[in-house]
Amino acid sequence: MEKDEAKMPAGEQADVFENIIDSADAVQDAAAENNADLIEEAEESGAEEAQESTEAENDNGQEVPENDKEAVLPDCDDDVLISITDLHKSFGKNEVLRGVTTQVKKGEKVVIIGPSGSGKSTLLRCLNMMETPTSGTIVFDGAPLDPKHSSINLHRRSMGMVFQHFNLFNNLTVVENIMLAPVKTGIADMKKLRRKAFFLKLRKVFDKNCTEEIPSYPSKAEIRKKALDNAMALLERIGLSDKAAAYPSTLSGGQKQRIAIVRALAMYPRVMLFDEPTSALDPEMVGEVLEVIKELAEGGMTMVIVTHEIGFAREVATRVLFIDEGVIKEDAPPAELFGAPKDARLKEFLSKVL
Ligand SMILES: Nc1ncnc2c1ncn2[C@@H]1O[C@H](COP(=O)(O)OP(=O)(O)OP(=O)(O)O)[C@@H](O)[C@H]1O
Ligand SMILES: [Mg+2]
Repeated sequence: MEKDEAKMPAGEQADVFENIIDSADAVQDAAAENNADLIEEAEESGAEEAQESTEAENDNGQEVPENDKEAVLPDCDDDVLISITDLHKSFGKNEVLRGVTTQVKKGEKVVIIGPSGSGKSTLLRCLNMMETPTSGTIVFDGAPLDPKHSSINLHRRSMGMVFQHFNLFNNLTVVENIMLAPVKTGIADMKKLRRKAFFLKLRKVFDKNCTEEIPSYPSKAEIRKKALDNAMALLERIGLSDKAAAYPSTLSGGQKQRIAIVRALAMYPRVMLFDEPTSALDPEMVGEVLEVIKELAEGGMTMVIVTHEIGFAREVATRVLFIDEGVIKEDAPPAELFGAPKDARLKEFLSKVL
Protein backbone atom coordinates (compact mmCIF):
# COMPACT_ATOMS: atom_id res chain seq x y z
CA MET A 1 0.00 0.00 0.00
CA GLU A 2 2.69 2.44 1.04
CA LYS A 3 4.76 1.32 -1.91
CA ASP A 4 1.83 1.92 -4.32
CA GLU A 5 1.22 5.36 -2.90
CA ALA A 6 4.87 6.22 -3.20
CA LYS A 7 4.80 5.29 -6.87
CA MET A 8 1.68 7.25 -7.57
CA PRO A 9 2.29 10.52 -9.43
CA ALA A 10 1.79 13.58 -7.26
CA GLY A 11 -1.29 14.76 -9.17
CA GLU A 12 -3.03 11.40 -8.89
CA GLN A 13 -2.20 11.20 -5.21
CA ALA A 14 -3.84 14.56 -4.67
CA ASP A 15 -6.92 13.36 -6.56
CA VAL A 16 -7.22 10.33 -4.32
CA PHE A 17 -6.90 12.46 -1.20
CA GLU A 18 -9.44 14.84 -2.60
CA ASN A 19 -11.95 12.08 -3.21
CA ILE A 20 -11.56 10.72 0.28
CA ILE A 21 -11.84 14.16 1.74
CA ASP A 22 -14.83 15.07 -0.37
CA SER A 23 -16.99 12.23 0.80
CA ALA A 24 -15.81 12.27 4.40
CA ASP A 25 -16.11 16.02 4.67
CA ALA A 26 -19.49 16.27 3.03
CA VAL A 27 -21.09 13.51 5.05
CA GLN A 28 -19.52 14.70 8.29
CA ASP A 29 -20.74 18.22 7.69
CA ALA A 30 -24.21 17.05 6.84
CA ALA A 31 -24.39 14.77 9.85
CA ALA A 32 -23.31 17.58 12.10
CA GLU A 33 -26.22 19.61 10.90
CA ASN A 34 -28.51 16.62 11.27
CA ASN A 35 -30.24 17.60 8.09
CA ALA A 36 -31.45 14.89 5.74
CA ASP A 37 -31.62 17.22 2.75
CA LEU A 38 -28.11 18.32 3.27
CA ILE A 39 -26.79 14.76 3.49
CA GLU A 40 -28.39 14.05 0.14
CA GLU A 41 -26.98 17.23 -1.34
CA ALA A 42 -23.55 16.57 0.13
CA GLU A 43 -23.40 13.04 -1.18
CA GLU A 44 -24.31 14.23 -4.63
CA SER A 45 -21.91 17.12 -4.55
CA GLY A 46 -18.70 15.39 -5.59
CA ALA A 47 -18.73 16.76 -9.13
CA GLU A 48 -19.94 20.19 -8.12
CA GLU A 49 -17.27 20.53 -5.45
CA ALA A 50 -14.54 19.31 -7.73
CA GLN A 51 -15.54 22.08 -10.09
CA GLU A 52 -15.61 24.69 -7.35
CA SER A 53 -12.33 23.49 -5.99
CA THR A 54 -10.52 24.79 -9.02
CA GLU A 55 -10.44 27.86 -6.74
CA ALA A 56 -11.06 31.27 -8.16
CA GLU A 57 -11.62 31.08 -11.86
CA ASN A 58 -12.99 33.90 -13.89
CA ASP A 59 -16.04 33.39 -16.05
CA ASN A 60 -13.80 32.46 -18.96
CA GLY A 61 -12.33 29.63 -16.92
CA GLN A 62 -8.97 31.28 -16.37
CA GLU A 63 -7.36 31.22 -12.97
CA VAL A 64 -7.30 34.42 -11.03
CA PRO A 65 -5.34 35.30 -7.92
CA GLU A 66 -7.26 34.67 -4.70
CA ASN A 67 -7.65 38.32 -3.84
CA ASP A 68 -8.20 39.33 -7.47
CA LYS A 69 -5.44 41.89 -7.15
CA GLU A 70 -2.35 40.37 -8.65
CA ALA A 71 -1.88 43.19 -11.07
CA VAL A 72 -2.13 46.04 -8.57
CA LEU A 73 -1.10 49.21 -10.28
CA PRO A 74 1.65 51.33 -8.82
CA ASP A 75 1.05 54.97 -7.85
CA CYS A 76 -2.64 54.39 -7.28
CA ASP A 77 -4.30 57.13 -5.25
CA ASP A 78 -5.72 55.47 -2.13
CA ASP A 79 -8.79 57.70 -2.23
CA VAL A 80 -9.75 56.61 -5.73
CA LEU A 81 -12.15 53.69 -5.91
CA ILE A 82 -12.81 53.64 -9.66
CA SER A 83 -10.47 54.98 -12.30
CA ILE A 84 -11.65 55.00 -15.92
CA THR A 85 -9.19 55.86 -18.67
CA ASP A 86 -9.99 56.45 -22.33
CA LEU A 87 -12.85 53.97 -22.32
CA HIS A 88 -14.29 53.03 -25.72
CA LYS A 89 -17.20 50.73 -26.42
CA SER A 90 -18.63 49.91 -29.83
CA PHE A 91 -21.55 47.74 -30.81
CA GLY A 92 -20.66 46.80 -34.37
CA LYS A 93 -20.10 50.09 -36.16
CA ASN A 94 -21.92 52.06 -33.49
CA GLU A 95 -19.24 53.66 -31.32
CA VAL A 96 -21.18 54.35 -28.13
CA LEU A 97 -18.40 55.33 -25.72
CA ARG A 98 -15.70 57.39 -27.40
CA GLY A 99 -13.02 57.90 -24.81
CA VAL A 100 -14.40 58.34 -21.29
CA THR A 101 -11.87 59.30 -18.63
CA THR A 102 -12.82 60.01 -15.04
CA GLN A 103 -12.29 58.89 -11.47
CA VAL A 104 -14.66 58.17 -8.62
CA LYS A 105 -13.27 58.70 -5.15
CA LYS A 106 -14.34 56.73 -2.11
CA GLY A 107 -17.51 58.26 -0.67
CA GLU A 108 -18.28 60.31 -3.78
CA LYS A 109 -21.80 60.47 -5.19
CA VAL A 110 -21.43 60.94 -8.93
CA VAL A 111 -24.59 61.69 -10.88
CA ILE A 112 -24.56 61.09 -14.64
CA ILE A 113 -26.96 62.98 -16.88
CA GLY A 114 -27.24 63.12 -20.64
CA PRO A 115 -29.57 62.60 -23.58
CA SER A 116 -31.07 59.22 -24.47
CA GLY A 117 -28.58 57.02 -26.31
CA SER A 118 -25.53 58.99 -25.14
CA GLY A 119 -24.00 55.90 -23.48
CA LYS A 120 -24.89 56.32 -19.78
CA SER A 121 -26.15 52.77 -19.26
CA THR A 122 -23.32 51.36 -21.35
CA LEU A 123 -20.80 53.09 -19.07
CA LEU A 124 -22.44 51.61 -15.94
CA ARG A 125 -22.58 48.21 -17.58
CA CYS A 126 -18.86 48.38 -18.37
CA LEU A 127 -18.16 49.21 -14.70
CA ASN A 128 -20.12 46.16 -13.64
CA MET A 129 -18.48 43.95 -16.30
CA MET A 130 -21.82 43.37 -18.00
CA GLU A 131 -20.18 44.77 -21.14
CA THR A 132 -16.58 44.37 -22.19
CA PRO A 133 -15.01 47.65 -23.29
CA THR A 134 -13.57 47.77 -26.80
CA SER A 135 -10.51 49.57 -25.41
CA GLY A 136 -9.41 51.63 -22.43
CA THR A 137 -9.03 50.65 -18.80
CA ILE A 138 -11.11 50.52 -15.65
CA VAL A 139 -9.25 50.11 -12.38
CA PHE A 140 -11.35 49.23 -9.36
CA ASP A 141 -9.76 49.65 -5.95
CA GLY A 142 -6.29 49.28 -7.41
CA ALA A 143 -7.00 46.24 -9.60
CA PRO A 144 -7.63 46.51 -13.35
CA LEU A 145 -10.90 45.02 -14.56
CA ASP A 146 -10.08 42.60 -17.27
CA PRO A 147 -12.23 39.56 -18.06
CA LYS A 148 -9.01 37.62 -18.68
CA HIS A 149 -7.69 38.30 -15.18
CA SER A 150 -10.60 39.33 -12.98
CA SER A 151 -13.30 37.14 -11.58
CA ILE A 152 -16.54 38.69 -12.80
CA ASN A 153 -18.47 37.19 -9.92
CA LEU A 154 -16.02 38.44 -7.32
CA HIS A 155 -16.09 41.87 -8.89
CA ARG A 156 -19.88 42.06 -9.01
CA ARG A 157 -20.04 41.37 -5.30
CA SER A 158 -18.30 44.69 -4.81
CA MET A 159 -20.66 46.62 -7.05
CA GLY A 160 -24.36 46.69 -6.25
CA MET A 161 -26.41 47.52 -9.32
CA VAL A 162 -29.98 48.75 -9.35
CA PHE A 163 -31.84 48.93 -12.64
CA GLN A 164 -34.85 50.85 -13.87
CA HIS A 165 -37.03 47.72 -13.90
CA PHE A 166 -36.19 46.20 -10.47
CA ASN A 167 -35.41 42.71 -11.85
CA LEU A 168 -36.76 40.91 -8.76
CA PHE A 169 -37.47 37.19 -9.06
CA ASN A 170 -41.25 36.91 -9.09
CA ASN A 171 -41.21 33.24 -8.03
CA LEU A 172 -39.37 34.07 -4.80
CA THR A 173 -40.68 35.97 -1.79
CA VAL A 174 -39.22 39.33 -0.88
CA VAL A 175 -36.94 37.91 1.79
CA GLU A 176 -35.82 35.06 -0.50
CA ASN A 177 -34.93 37.61 -3.17
CA ILE A 178 -32.70 39.43 -0.68
CA MET A 179 -31.14 36.23 0.71
CA LEU A 180 -30.45 34.56 -2.63
CA ALA A 181 -27.04 35.98 -3.52
CA PRO A 182 -25.60 36.08 0.04
CA VAL A 183 -26.54 32.43 0.59
CA LYS A 184 -25.17 31.32 -2.78
CA THR A 185 -21.86 33.14 -2.39
CA GLY A 186 -21.68 32.26 1.33
CA ILE A 187 -21.95 28.55 0.53
CA ALA A 188 -19.40 28.82 -2.29
CA ASP A 189 -16.95 30.56 0.08
CA MET A 190 -17.62 28.02 2.81
CA LYS A 191 -16.88 25.12 0.46
CA LYS A 192 -13.53 26.63 -0.45
CA LEU A 193 -12.65 27.07 3.21
CA ARG A 194 -13.82 23.55 4.03
CA ARG A 195 -11.62 22.13 1.30
CA LYS A 196 -8.69 24.19 2.50
CA ALA A 197 -9.24 22.99 6.08
CA PHE A 198 -9.24 19.34 5.02
CA PHE A 199 -6.12 19.62 2.94
CA LEU A 200 -4.40 21.41 5.77
CA LYS A 201 -5.43 18.74 8.27
CA LEU A 202 -4.07 16.14 5.93
CA ARG A 203 -0.85 18.04 5.42
CA LYS A 204 -0.36 18.32 9.15
CA VAL A 205 -0.48 14.51 9.38
CA PHE A 206 2.51 14.25 7.07
CA ASP A 207 4.28 17.46 7.95
CA LYS A 208 4.69 18.02 11.68
CA ASN A 209 6.33 21.39 11.04
CA CYS A 210 3.26 22.81 9.32
CA THR A 211 2.08 25.66 11.54
CA GLU A 212 -0.59 27.13 9.28
CA GLU A 213 -3.85 27.53 11.17
CA ILE A 214 -6.76 25.38 10.05
CA PRO A 215 -9.53 27.75 8.95
CA SER A 216 -12.95 27.48 10.52
CA TYR A 217 -16.02 27.74 8.33
CA PRO A 218 -19.72 28.18 8.96
CA SER A 219 -22.36 25.52 8.33
CA LYS A 220 -24.99 26.01 5.64
CA ALA A 221 -27.61 26.56 8.35
CA GLU A 222 -25.46 29.32 9.86
CA ILE A 223 -25.01 30.95 6.46
CA ARG A 224 -28.76 30.90 5.85
CA LYS A 225 -29.51 32.22 9.34
CA LYS A 226 -27.07 35.10 8.93
CA ALA A 227 -28.51 35.98 5.49
CA LEU A 228 -32.04 35.87 6.90
CA ASP A 229 -31.17 38.09 9.87
CA ASN A 230 -29.44 40.56 7.59
CA ALA A 231 -32.33 40.58 5.10
CA MET A 232 -34.83 41.23 7.90
CA ALA A 233 -32.67 44.04 9.31
CA LEU A 234 -32.49 45.63 5.84
CA LEU A 235 -36.25 45.33 5.37
CA GLU A 236 -36.74 46.91 8.79
CA ARG A 237 -34.52 49.79 7.73
CA ILE A 238 -36.77 50.62 4.77
CA GLY A 239 -39.99 49.95 6.71
CA LEU A 240 -40.98 46.87 4.72
CA SER A 241 -40.42 44.02 7.18
CA ASP A 242 -44.14 43.17 6.98
CA LYS A 243 -43.59 42.33 3.28
CA ALA A 244 -40.90 39.69 3.90
CA ALA A 245 -43.14 36.78 2.93
CA ALA A 246 -44.94 38.60 0.10
CA TYR A 247 -44.26 37.97 -3.59
CA PRO A 248 -43.01 40.90 -5.70
CA SER A 249 -46.14 40.87 -7.89
CA THR A 250 -48.19 42.04 -4.89
CA LEU A 251 -46.03 45.13 -4.29
CA SER A 252 -46.08 48.68 -5.67
CA GLY A 253 -43.31 49.87 -7.99
CA GLY A 254 -41.80 51.99 -5.23
CA GLN A 255 -41.75 49.04 -2.82
CA LYS A 256 -40.17 46.78 -5.48
CA GLN A 257 -37.43 49.29 -6.16
CA ARG A 258 -36.67 49.77 -2.46
CA ILE A 259 -36.38 45.99 -2.16
CA ALA A 260 -34.12 45.87 -5.23
CA ILE A 261 -31.89 48.40 -3.47
CA VAL A 262 -31.62 46.43 -0.23
CA ARG A 263 -31.10 43.24 -2.23
CA ALA A 264 -27.99 44.86 -3.70
CA LEU A 265 -26.95 46.10 -0.24
CA ALA A 266 -27.18 42.59 1.18
CA MET A 267 -23.89 41.81 -0.59
CA TYR A 268 -22.10 44.63 1.27
CA PRO A 269 -20.99 46.33 -1.97
CA ARG A 270 -18.17 48.90 -2.05
CA VAL A 271 -20.10 51.02 -4.52
CA MET A 272 -23.70 51.24 -5.68
CA LEU A 273 -24.56 51.84 -9.33
CA PHE A 274 -28.07 53.10 -10.09
CA ASP A 275 -29.39 53.22 -13.63
CA GLU A 276 -32.43 55.51 -13.65
CA PRO A 277 -33.85 53.93 -10.49
CA THR A 278 -37.01 56.06 -10.48
CA SER A 279 -37.85 56.52 -14.14
CA ALA A 280 -40.25 53.57 -14.30
CA LEU A 281 -42.18 54.68 -11.21
CA ASP A 282 -45.44 56.52 -10.81
CA PRO A 283 -44.60 60.07 -9.69
CA GLU A 284 -45.95 59.58 -6.18
CA MET A 285 -43.51 56.71 -5.59
CA VAL A 286 -40.38 58.50 -6.74
CA GLY A 287 -39.89 60.24 -3.38
CA GLU A 288 -39.79 57.08 -1.25
CA VAL A 289 -37.09 55.54 -3.46
CA LEU A 290 -35.00 58.72 -3.56
CA GLU A 291 -35.27 58.89 0.24
CA VAL A 292 -33.66 55.43 0.56
CA ILE A 293 -30.87 56.43 -1.84
CA LYS A 294 -30.34 59.70 0.05
CA GLU A 295 -30.08 57.84 3.34
CA LEU A 296 -27.46 55.55 1.81
CA ALA A 297 -25.57 58.56 0.53
CA GLU A 298 -25.58 60.12 3.99
CA GLY A 299 -24.21 56.84 5.35
CA GLY A 300 -21.10 57.35 3.21
CA MET A 301 -21.74 54.86 0.39
CA THR A 302 -19.87 55.55 -2.86
CA MET A 303 -22.42 55.88 -5.65
CA VAL A 304 -22.72 56.38 -9.38
CA ILE A 305 -26.27 57.34 -10.30
CA VAL A 306 -27.77 57.86 -13.73
CA THR A 307 -30.87 59.97 -13.17
CA HIS A 308 -32.94 62.78 -14.60
CA GLU A 309 -34.05 63.88 -11.13
CA ILE A 310 -32.23 67.20 -11.18
CA GLY A 311 -33.48 68.31 -7.74
CA PHE A 312 -32.12 65.09 -6.26
CA ALA A 313 -28.82 65.51 -8.11
CA ARG A 314 -28.43 69.05 -6.77
CA GLU A 315 -29.02 67.82 -3.24
CA VAL A 316 -27.07 64.55 -3.18
CA ALA A 317 -24.35 64.65 -5.86
CA THR A 318 -20.82 65.62 -5.04
CA ARG A 319 -20.14 65.81 -8.79
CA VAL A 320 -22.25 65.69 -11.95
CA LEU A 321 -21.08 64.36 -15.31
CA PHE A 322 -22.85 65.37 -18.49
CA ILE A 323 -22.36 62.68 -21.13
CA ASP A 324 -23.18 63.38 -24.74
CA GLU A 325 -22.32 61.29 -27.80
CA GLY A 326 -20.16 58.95 -25.75
CA VAL A 327 -17.89 61.50 -24.09
CA ILE A 328 -17.98 63.54 -20.89
CA LYS A 329 -18.74 67.04 -22.03
CA GLU A 330 -18.86 68.59 -18.58
CA ASP A 331 -17.80 67.49 -15.12
CA ALA A 332 -18.48 69.81 -12.18
CA PRO A 333 -20.11 70.04 -8.75
CA PRO A 334 -23.90 70.33 -9.07
CA ALA A 335 -24.16 74.03 -8.18
CA GLU A 336 -21.69 74.88 -10.94
CA LEU A 337 -22.93 72.45 -13.59
CA PHE A 338 -26.60 73.37 -13.16
CA GLY A 339 -26.03 77.01 -12.17
CA ALA A 340 -23.51 77.98 -14.82
CA PRO A 341 -23.31 75.33 -17.55
CA LYS A 342 -20.59 75.97 -20.12
CA ASP A 343 -21.12 73.36 -22.82
CA ALA A 344 -23.67 74.35 -25.49
CA ARG A 345 -25.20 70.84 -25.60
CA LEU A 346 -25.54 70.83 -21.82
CA LYS A 347 -27.32 74.19 -21.90
CA GLU A 348 -29.73 72.84 -24.49
CA PHE A 349 -30.24 69.61 -22.49
CA LEU A 350 -30.91 71.49 -19.26
CA SER A 351 -33.37 73.82 -20.96
CA LYS A 352 -35.46 70.71 -21.71
CA VAL A 353 -35.21 68.93 -18.36
CA LEU A 354 -35.22 71.82 -15.85
N1 LIG B 1 -26.21 45.40 -26.25
C1 LIG B 1 -26.27 46.32 -27.20
N2 LIG B 1 -26.18 45.99 -28.50
C2 LIG B 1 -26.22 46.92 -29.47
N3 LIG B 1 -26.36 48.23 -29.22
C3 LIG B 1 -26.47 48.63 -27.95
C4 LIG B 1 -26.44 47.70 -26.87
N4 LIG B 1 -26.58 48.40 -25.72
C5 LIG B 1 -26.68 49.69 -26.06
N5 LIG B 1 -26.62 49.83 -27.40
C6 LIG B 1 -26.71 51.10 -28.13
O1 LIG B 1 -25.79 51.99 -27.52
C7 LIG B 1 -26.31 53.30 -27.53
C8 LIG B 1 -26.24 53.85 -26.14
O2 LIG B 1 -27.13 53.12 -25.31
P1 LIG B 1 -27.25 53.36 -23.76
O3 LIG B 1 -28.30 52.44 -23.29
O4 LIG B 1 -25.92 53.31 -23.13
O5 LIG B 1 -27.77 54.88 -23.72
P2 LIG B 1 -28.33 55.70 -22.51
O6 LIG B 1 -27.55 56.97 -22.45
O7 LIG B 1 -28.38 54.89 -21.30
O8 LIG B 1 -29.81 56.04 -23.02
P3 LIG B 1 -31.19 56.13 -22.19
O9 LIG B 1 -31.20 57.50 -21.54
O10 LIG B 1 -32.24 56.06 -23.26
O11 LIG B 1 -31.24 55.01 -21.22
C9 LIG B 1 -27.68 53.23 -28.13
O12 LIG B 1 -27.60 53.59 -29.47
C10 LIG B 1 -28.05 51.78 -28.00
O13 LIG B 1 -28.91 51.39 -29.01
MG1 LIG C 1 -29.90 54.07 -20.12
